[in-house]
Amino acid sequence: MTLKYIIITTKYIFFISTLIFVSFPANSELSVEEIIKGRKAIFSKNYTTAKKVQMLVSKGDFEKAKNKMIEMSDNYKSLLKYFPANTKEGFKTEASPAIWDNKEEFDELMNKSSNDMIELASIIDSSENIKGTLGKLMWSNCKACHSKFRSPH
Ligand code: HEC
Repeated sequence: MTLKYIIITTKYIFFISTLIFVSFPANSELSVEEIIKGRKAIFSKNYTTAKKVQMLVSKGDFEKAKNKMIEMSDNYKSLLKYFPANTKEGFKTEASPAIWDNKEEFDELMNKSSNDMIELASIIDSSENIKGTLGKLMWSNCKACHSKFRSPH
């Protein structure tokens, strides 16, 4: 009887601690290498996704395009956590030191880029000027940030 309870309780504790461990914020345990490589991978993915968005919109496939836009918006939000102060150099990073001298401005640009993708998703199918709208709410943000915060490569 008591042994049974002990076994059940042990299993329960084990299960709960696994849950806590798995849901622990990812970045707190990542190494500098994982963070720098991680953000590069997200930026590359966003580039691929942006090209898909452009292609889907030009075909008039707005529903699929909108899903991709939301995906990009989420990626920008997660990128906010990928620039801790100990990741200024190494692992071929192209992040400019200007990021950490102007962290608020950088984070604002990241947030703006994320919010613009949400706005894009809500207005693209009623836009009169598709190309211009994509330029303004998607592509111009890449350039605005890179020109100040990504080193020449
Ligand atoms: C708020 C700032 C910001 C925005 C917005 C932004 N980028 Fe970047 N991007 C960066 C920074 C900083 C790096 C350098 C990261 C590193 O090397 O550590 C980078 C790197 C990249 C890379 C290189 C990744 C690699 O493998 O080294 C690509 C590709 C890229 N960005 C594409 C884009 C595209 C396309 C957009 C717009 C759709 C965009 N970025 C929007 C800041 C931004």
